[in-house]
Amino acid sequence: MKASAPAKIILFGEHAVVYRKHALVTAVNLRCFADVKRSSDFKIISPLGITKLDFETHPWISYAIKNFSNIKPINGVEVRIESQIPIASGLGSSAAVTVSVLKALDAEFETGLSNDDICEIARKVEIDVQGAGSGTDPFISTFGGMWLIPERKKLNCKDFNILVVDTKEKSITSEMVKKVAELRNKYPEIIDPIFDAIDGISLRAMEVFDTGFDWKKLADLIFLNQCLLRAIGVSSSKIEKIIEMLSEKGITAKLTGAGGGGCVIAIGDVEDLKIDNSFIVKPEKEGVRIEE
Ligand code: MEV
Repeated sequence: MKASAPAKIILFGEHAVVYRKHALVTAVNLRCFADVKRSSDFKIISPLGITKLDFETHPWISYAIKNFSNIKPINGVEVRIESQIPIASGLGSSAAVTVSVLKALDAEFETGLSNDDICEIARKVEIDVQGAGSGTDPFISTFGGMWLIPERKKLNCKDFNILVVDTKEKSITSEMVKKVAELRNKYPEIIDPIFDAIDGISLRAMEVFDTGFDWKKLADLIFLNQCLLRAIGVSSSKIEKIIEMLSEKGITAKLTGAGGGGCVIAIGDVEDLKIDNSFIVKPEKEGVRIEE
């Protein structure tokens, strides 16, 4: 059985969302495909290599299989991954691989899991691998669409272009979440108001999306969000260089996801820009699905 699940982009609110502040997040039209076949032993084939159950090389897939086995014990399975989502780039490739593997396992072994169950197990895998996280990535990858987090209010998923520029530097979510937690422990009276400000940005952005596309206002909010992400130490010199280069072309950009590397995003009039290591994505309505 083959299943696929989409990537996600955090438009506003990363990191603050770990502390239950608001974030505006959309699934996007890049997918991870998981092909699952019954087998007498365990084999995982992906761009990261060919292994058995391996919690170092393939932690997300291995924990997905382990958690699934708690529901339905299995003696073996072959999992083959093909993905359009750049790895460790802030676009939710880990959640998409987890969710697509769980959906394909469910279909292959006929366990009748709902998408809510799949989202819940993927959330558990996120905790197993990362130790912390808001659960946003598995939620968006399971259900698709555009959402206000943490209350999971579904927004009207409009069609617009998102420019993504890949720094080609790895973004390791667990490390960045830990770094921010350490800063907050040291300076709670400074960091908490920053999270409150990010919360306000996400809510303002939702209003702007609700009432059409005021690109100028969205650019203001992107600028402010990036300043605050820089303040909590999750930008990098590569990210800042790309943002500067885009600013010279009149485009306002921010990092997306955990930062420290990964991708920079911009919205608005971005279709015809010629930028190295960049591509355009669009909001995606559909979440995890079985592929024929
Ligand atoms: C990672 O895509 C986004 C973070 O806010 C962590 C999380 O929400 O789990 C940095």
